[in-house]
Amino acid sequence: MADEPVSTNIVRVEGRVDSVARARRFGHASQTVWFTGLSGSGKSTLAFAVEEALSERGVACYVLDGDNIRFGLNRDLGFSPQDRAENIRRIGEVCRLFQDAGLVVLTAFISPYQADRDQVRELHPEAAFTEVFVDTPIEVCEARDVKGLYAKARAGEIPEFSGISAPYEAPAAPEIRVDTTKSLEDCVAEIVEQLAL
Ligand code: ADX
Repeated sequence: MADEPVSTNIVRVEGRVDSVARARRFGHASQTVWFTGLSGSGKSTLAFAVEEALSERGVACYVLDGDNIRFGLNRDLGFSPQDRAENIRRIGEVCRLFQDAGLVVLTAFISPYQADRDQVRELHPEAAFTEVFVDTPIEVCEARDVKGLYAKARAGEIPEFSGISAPYEAPAAPEIRVDTTKSLEDCVAEIVEQLAL
């Protein structure tokens, strides 16, 4: 259950343009497509490739990426469990706003805790949240080590590194599980097909 707002004496207001009108304007339903997986699993690559494929089909979409967001909106947050929860909470709220605005929003955050991901799901109407588990084994992520972070984590230079010295809770029941031993092209095609926009 989400915390109550700190503010008192606030009242919700409704606009006059509803989700049906927005879907008519964009020509498709809106939703949040939430990629979760270890660092180096391929979340960002997949999210940006799916964005490109959907854009080519005329879908209004946008990617929120973990590293990028930590340069701006969430630059005050680190990697403690509390900061990760706040990272995901804020992004969940941003996703809900994008989704309410009529867009397809794709995210690429490790989002290691099931409870945090479930909280984002609960913010959305039922059919408007898709959890995508980028199921790349840690051995593969570590062998790739695109950013050199696993080597640093093993050397003790990065504390609380997901999969090494901090937990990663794989989704219990994701709508989509991506087998990244397949080609990027095949993974993207499967995701686009399953989103059925
Ligand atoms: S999350 O756990 O809060 O969802 P997020 O996706 O925003 O993480 O950021 C993860 C990115 O930050 C990684 O891809 C990596 O580049 C970088 N990073 C830096 N330190 C850590 C760490 N301790 N654990 C995981 N990722 C880290």
